[in-house]
Amino acid sequence: MKQQMVTGGGRLRGEIRVPGDKSISHRSIMLGSLATGTTRVRGLLRGEDNLATLQAFRAMGVRIEEPADGSLLIHGVGLHGLREPDGVLDCGNSGTTMRLMTGLLAGQRFFTVLTGDRYLRRRPMKRVVEPLTRMGGQIWGRNGGELAPLAIRGTALQGISHQSQVASAQIKSALLLAGLYAEGETVVHEPHLSRDHSERMLRYFGARLESLATGARLIPGRHLEGREVEVPGDISSAAFFMVAALIRPGSELLIRHVGVNPTRSGIIDILLAMGGSLELQNQRECSGEPVADILVRSSHLRGIEIGGDLVPRAIDEFPVIAVAAAFAEGETVIRDARELRVKETDRIAAMTAELGGLGAQVTALEDGMAIRGGVALGGGTASSHGDHRIAMSMAVAALGVAEPVTIVDTDCTETSFPGFWQLLEQSREL
Ligand code: S3P
Repeated sequence: MKQQMVTGGGRLRGEIRVPGDKSISHRSIMLGSLATGTTRVRGLLRGEDNLATLQAFRAMGVRIEEPADGSLLIHGVGLHGLREPDGVLDCGNSGTTMRLMTGLLAGQRFFTVLTGDRYLRRRPMKRVVEPLTRMGGQIWGRNGGELAPLAIRGTALQGISHQSQVASAQIKSALLLAGLYAEGETVVHEPHLSRDHSERMLRYFGARLESLATGARLIPGRHLEGREVEVPGDISSAAFFMVAALIRPGSELLIRHVGVNPTRSGIIDILLAMGGSLELQNQRECSGEPVADILVRSSHLRGIEIGGDLVPRAIDEFPVIAVAAAFAEGETVIRDARELRVKETDRIAAMTAELGGLGAQVTALEDGMAIRGGVALGGGTASSHGDHRIAMSMAVAALGVAEPVTIVDTDCTETSFPGFWQLLEQSREL
């Protein structure tokens, strides 16, 4: 098990780029495989989660080349061209791979089994299994379909209208992908709009898809056409550097080419509301997704209250938001974020334990956290709980601690951010 010792201090200066967006990378592999013709993907994230998706499509007979220029060339097999894999498909740590693939595989003409690592095998799957079963899907899992491994016998599907209880892009996307194979339209409503990358990319590849205020409608019957996709930098990865630059005095960091899709940019709104200095420059569009450069300058942060529709717009950023809150003046209260309990780990419990372990005043709430900022943190040891975002958040916290902090179990950062530790050191002036 790897560990990393981080010694605090210094400031973040210069220009950086973060690796490609994880959500968009998954979708580009999936839709590129289901399209007719070739799809070239530039800027793909080669983290372990995305490699699990890539491997799954190769196992279903899709030829995917990796030319020397770093792009990915997918020879799409068309909607009905996938082949039955002769082994179990391993989704690793990736909830997106497992949930989206369950939708996609429900309408194939073959049998598949999906599994994942010990963290993924504990995460709830009924949220996709139940509505897919209503579409006619035949899916089995442990605990009545709640837990992976999942076995899927592809069958004919009918479109449904589904009211989701949680704002989850994974649920929405699983149903939309199943909807490509269903008879009649598939409609998904959610309590608040979750990230809409699937909708944007389905449209970009030629599907008939209508975005609703809080959901989407897919009308099947069209082929997908291979496209050129350029994946922007992942705002969820940029978030660690935004918070690092805000809390380290004297910092000025330009993070280039970051995806700023409004369904993902809650972190910017939250940090601005906390008094952070962030400027979006050079705003443009790239393969149907908004992109910008983000200039961050160190700032005096204040505690705020966070809840409602801001939560799904920043769902993966709460571990590092908790870190920002620990360095802010006053109290930050995060509510309506019960979903954090079923991420790669229980992120409410993990951040409460780990930030608390360094001396921060954090109280776990059933659906969030209350953090009293401005208390000096001390050195020590922090565990990642096997969760990439906990590991990286604790590394950012360590920058503001006088004594060294050792972060234990850090291999997990490879799932979403290969090169994180090197980039953190390169962008820091001591
Ligand atoms: C993702 C959706 C979110 C997010 C995850 C990636 C996606 O999960 O937390 O990291 O790519 O669709 P939920 O849909 O469960 O909220």
